[in-house]
Amino acid sequence: MLPYGRQSIDQSDVEAVVAALGSDWLTTGPRVAQFEADIEAVAGAPAVTVTNGTTALHTAYAAAGVTQGDEVITTPMTFVATASSAALLGAKIVFADVEDETANIDPAAVEELANERTKAIAAVDYAGHPAEYDALRKISERVGAVLIGDAAHSIGTTFHGRPVGTLADLTTFSFFPTKNLTTAEGGAVASIRPDLLQRARTFRTIGLVRDKSLMRFPDEGPWHQEVHEFGNNYRLPDVLCALGSSQLKRLAAFKARRQQLTARYDELLAGVPGLRLPIQREGVDPLRHLYPVRVLDGRRREVFERMREAGIGVQVNYIPVYWHPVFADLGYQRGMCPVAETFYAEQLSLPLFVDLSDADQDRVVETLRNILGS
Ligand SMILES: Cc1ncc(COP(=O)(O)O)c(C=O)c1O
Repeated sequence: MLPYGRQSIDQSDVEAVVAALGSDWLTTGPRVAQFEADIEAVAGAPAVTVTNGTTALHTAYAAAGVTQGDEVITTPMTFVATASSAALLGAKIVFADVEDETANIDPAAVEELANERTKAIAAVDYAGHPAEYDALRKISERVGAVLIGDAAHSIGTTFHGRPVGTLADLTTFSFFPTKNLTTAEGGAVASIRPDLLQRARTFRTIGLVRDKSLMRFPDEGPWHQEVHEFGNNYRLPDVLCALGSSQLKRLAAFKARRQQLTARYDELLAGVPGLRLPIQREGVDPLRHLYPVRVLDGRRREVFERMREAGIGVQVNYIPVYWHPVFADLGYQRGMCPVAETFYAEQLSLPLFVDLSDADQDRVVETLRNILGS
């Protein structure tokens, strides 16, 4: 089965990991700091690494101070972790509908829902296309909320020339194998605000405070460290950071190939009846993680099944988050975000990954055209 996404690992990646394995450090060594600096060079803001994109979100919400009774506004068109990791901290999740064009959170919907209880507003750069951060920033400033960007899909993207880590107060990344780069499991939190980044760093390291100037009992002894707020062990090991730095060296090539494949899909599928293609807004230079088409006329399920039967591993990204039984059990009702629900009913992700060959892409296009009868 041709997958919808997969990693690209070459000899330079293998050598970087082998070198780390032979070094003195397996967990927190020099390659962690190196990978964090390398992420900063791409994302435009300092970063701390964590164990995956889900724990990156948990860390970002904790750094934002999200706690019991706070409201967090987010999009339903995302992987469940964008919402569930805030719910784990006791927040009430408020879903704002998405824009029809991009499937990103709609600032107009956020405007209606934001109030003094809103602790954080979390956007997702769906498929690698950044959300409307300037409009969201105005709302977050009006209500005093922290703006969070879930950039699991969009590392390497820029928005009006600004890199993706500079668009929100806190930005999270995932390095899962299908994403724009991989460390197997892995993630990071970047922040333009030093106070929030420090809170993220402490949360990721069990809440341990090692800076003497911040300690409550600084004279306890040279061995002393103390915890002021609960945290977790979300440290990404040196061995995986070695892979991350090696992958980042290849990011420009990854971007070029993903852009080439996206342009080919745009061209080869243009005008196919029953199909709507993704758009790109002006000022956006995306590194596309997904190529999401919309299958019209109620045929999405049929097309999904026939593509799979033909050995093409299409995917659906995503069911509206509040359809998950855990949210339904909390009283969230279907119909709440109609634009997201219509998008979901039509959405299909076609294979998109760096090592996808032109010939395999042609087969995807031909199979899809045949099913749609064009
Ligand atoms: C938008 C989004 N947020 C968060 C995550 C969670 O990332 P991870 O799988 O690394 O935990 C994912 C990955 O599936 C995602 O697509």
